[in-house]
Amino acid sequence: MLATIRYHVWRRLRAAYYAFALARLPFGGPLGRAISDWECAQGFGDSPKAKSTWDAEYGGGRWAYMGRQPELARYWTLIGFMDTFGRGGEYLDVGCGDGVLFERFKRLGYQRYVGIDISDVAIEKLRLYNDNRTAFFQADGDVHEPTGHFDVIVFNESLYYLRDPVRSLERYAESLKPGGFIIVSTYTESRRSLAVLREAKRAFEVFEEAQTTQGPMSWLCTVLKKAESTSLAR
Ligand SMILES: C[S@@+](CC[C@H](N)C(=O)[O-])C[C@H]1O[C@@H](n2cnc3c(N)ncnc32)[C@H](O)[C@@H]1O
Repeated sequence: MLATIRYHVWRRLRAAYYAFALARLPFGGPLGRAISDWECAQGFGDSPKAKSTWDAEYGGGRWAYMGRQPELARYWTLIGFMDTFGRGGEYLDVGCGDGVLFERFKRLGYQRYVGIDISDVAIEKLRLYNDNRTAFFQADGDVHEPTGHFDVIVFNESLYYLRDPVRSLERYAESLKPGGFIIVSTYTESRRSLAVLREAKRAFEVFEEAQTTQGPMSWLCTVLKKAESTSLAR
């Protein structure tokens, strides 16, 4: 009974937090962090999860739908932007999963493609692509330090799974070549992901954005550029 009441209080608090943008979103300050911790503890689908959970989900086929037709339009929007803004150069794919994006993108050509994911299970089948231009390996995007510099760094439905997404984005931006871009795909039904995107837009210049709707689902594909000053005063 007490647990149910507590759950509903937290739910309302969370709704208010997202609705009224209390403090700097996302998750700055003690309230933001408490809400983020609560979301993680509840296992919400758009919150950070342990590596073991991701491994189990990929092992059980939970994410197989990403490669199916209902997600097709957003992938091609993303790939169009990657090709246009990366010009076949060097790409970093953070949270690359089991490679749905790469499998479709690779035919367009690239000089270097690096994909990292927290899940060994997800990345396993991609290891066969590893060669002198291509590298897939397990790494935690929250702390990973990329090697070299990239024309495009892409977060395809992965940014909001990081624990401090916008700070991480700023860190990854240090690994962009001059004039490079960050591309973020955001599922619009997730409050957390929209809050993360909103804050990312405060820290970076929005260069281009497209909304893709397929059936009942909709995604934003946002191309970000380093602003003059990317530091967030929190
Ligand atoms: C919704 S899936 C998207 C996968 C892939 N980008 C795609 O669209 O097919 C989110 C991905 O982010 C990865 N991920 C979650 N937290 C991560 C972290 N801290 N570091 C790296 N990858 C992470 C998950 O393992 C998963 O592959």
